[in-house]
Amino acid sequence: MGQAVVLKSPDEIRVLHAANQIVARTLKRLEEMARPGVTTADLDREAERYCRKQGAIPAFKGYRGYPASLCVSVNQEVVHGIPSRRRRLQSGDLVSIDFGVRFQGYYGDAAVTIAVGDLTDERARLQAVTREALERGIAQVMIGRRISDISRAIQEHVEAHGFSVVRQFVGHGIGRQLHEPPEIPNYVREGASPRLQPGMVLAIEPMVNAGTWEVKVLRDGWTVVTADGRPSAHFEHSVAVTEDGPLVLSRLADEEF
Ligand code: CO
Repeated sequence: MGQAVVLKSPDEIRVLHAANQIVARTLKRLEEMARPGVTTADLDREAERYCRKQGAIPAFKGYRGYPASLCVSVNQEVVHGIPSRRRRLQSGDLVSIDFGVRFQGYYGDAAVTIAVGDLTDERARLQAVTREALERGIAQVMIGRRISDISRAIQEHVEAHGFSVVRQFVGHGIGRQLHEPPEIPNYVREGASPRLQPGMVLAIEPMVNAGTWEVKVLRDGWTVVTADGRPSAHFEHSVAVTEDGPLVLSRLADEEF
């Protein structure tokens, strides 16, 4: 495909795991904080504080001029929602929280979509189908499969439930850069795609719309919203390809003992 995929050594994967565990802990903390009345700026501030406390640096702030540490995308917002002191969460909101860090020279990146209070049936189904689509994509992470097998698993699950996958934004490799080759679309593209090899690290991130897959970008230059105003959901994990299958670096380890 002409894409220079950088393979990572076991030592590098250990550092990527540590970076992604900082992201996972931070997302868990934000999930617990996300109640009616909390502003998206409150979440942003806590994400920055909590990751710095663990020795990491927020990865998104300053990336191509992005103004915050966190992306918080509510309801019809798909991705890249900019935190604001004026945006208070309300019961019924479907909220994508996307966070990335840099730790010891390597990046972590993950996202969850959470419910604030009770969701409508459609929003609850959208959340569940998107979460499951990511899991089905991850289940394709085996030596010998291709990127397109991940894309197909995601697309088929989403469309079987009557929802659509966003085309304009895709998953990506991750390592010493936040975004590395290969691209990981959530729909099957024409032509061959790279084969999975041990040492690849992939940020798989289905963005799923209740209605049309088409999106637009608001005048702030960042916030991506659905073209039809219907809701959207987003989940992301950073996953290492190993001989033994997927190693989900951003899956929160059980730290209880
Ligand atoms: Co990402």
